[in-house]
Amino acid sequence: MSITTESELLGMKKVSEVVGTTLKLMKEYAKIGMSTKELDAYGGEILKRYGAKSAPYETYGFPGYACISVNKEAAHGIPSKNKILKEGDLINIDVSAELNGFWSDNGGSFVLGEDIHNHQPLVDASKNILHKAITNIKGGVKIADIGHLIESEAKKSGFKVIKNLAGHGVGRSLHEEPENILNYRVRTNRERFKKNTTVAIETFISTKSTIAVELNDGWTLVGNKGGYVTQHEQTILITDNTPIILTESNGMWN
Ligand code: CO
Ligand code: CO
Repeated sequence: MSITTESELLGMKKVSEVVGTTLKLMKEYAKIGMSTKELDAYGGEILKRYGAKSAPYETYGFPGYACISVNKEAAHGIPSKNKILKEGDLINIDVSAELNGFWSDNGGSFVLGEDIHNHQPLVDASKNILHKAITNIKGGVKIADIGHLIESEAKKSGFKVIKNLAGHGVGRSLHEEPENILNYRVRTNRERFKKNTTVAIETFISTKSTIAVELNDGWTLVGNKGGYVTQHEQTILITDNTPIILTESNGMWN
C-alpha cells in the first residue's frame, strides 16, 4: 500500500510489530519433542492477545494460524499434532496477520537444536541475501534488478532460488501490488519500487529445486527436485534511502 498519512504509518507499524514479535516468540518456544500443532496454538494465542487475526486462517481458510514447514516442506506447511520436532530439523515459520485493517507478513527459517544435518549454511545464505536485497531497495529501483541480485547472490553461495514463489505488496490486504517480487530477473518487468509503499520481501533459497509444487493436501509446497528450501521475509517501508524494516521486532538479524 501507499502510505499517505501518519495514522496509516502507525497502523502498519503496529501490525508489523505484532507479527514480528509473534514470529520471535514462536521461534524461541519451538522445542524438540513438540508438535507443530502445539507451536501453532502458541502463536495463535499471541496474535489473539494483541487483537490481531491470523491472515492465512481468517482469509484463506488455512488449517492453522501460522505456516510451519519442516525439513522437505518448502512452504505453507500445515501444523499437525503428528509432526514432532526433532534435533537438527530445518523449520520455517511464517506469520502474517491483520490488525485494525492493516496487514503485515514475515517469516524465517532456522535449525532446531544442534545442526546435525548441516542446514545452517543454507539458513545463513538466505538471511544474508534478504538483508542485502533489502539494503539495495529504494524508490525507483527496478524490481527485476533486486530479483537479479537475489539469484546471483544465491549462486555465489552455491544455491538456487525458487522461481514460482515471490514477495509482494502488503498493507490493506496480505497480497497486493506489486504482486510478483521474484527471486530472479524477469527482463520484461520494468516495474520499479515506489517510495512510501509497503512491501514484503522474501527470499526462497534452495539446495536443488527451482520450482515449488503443491502436495495433494492442497497446501504444502515441496521442491520439484527435492532438497531443502529456506525462506526469510520482512515487511518494509520504502524510502529515498535504506528501507525501514517494519517487522524488525522478529530479531532476524540479531
Ligand atoms: Co509470509
Ligand atoms: Co509473504
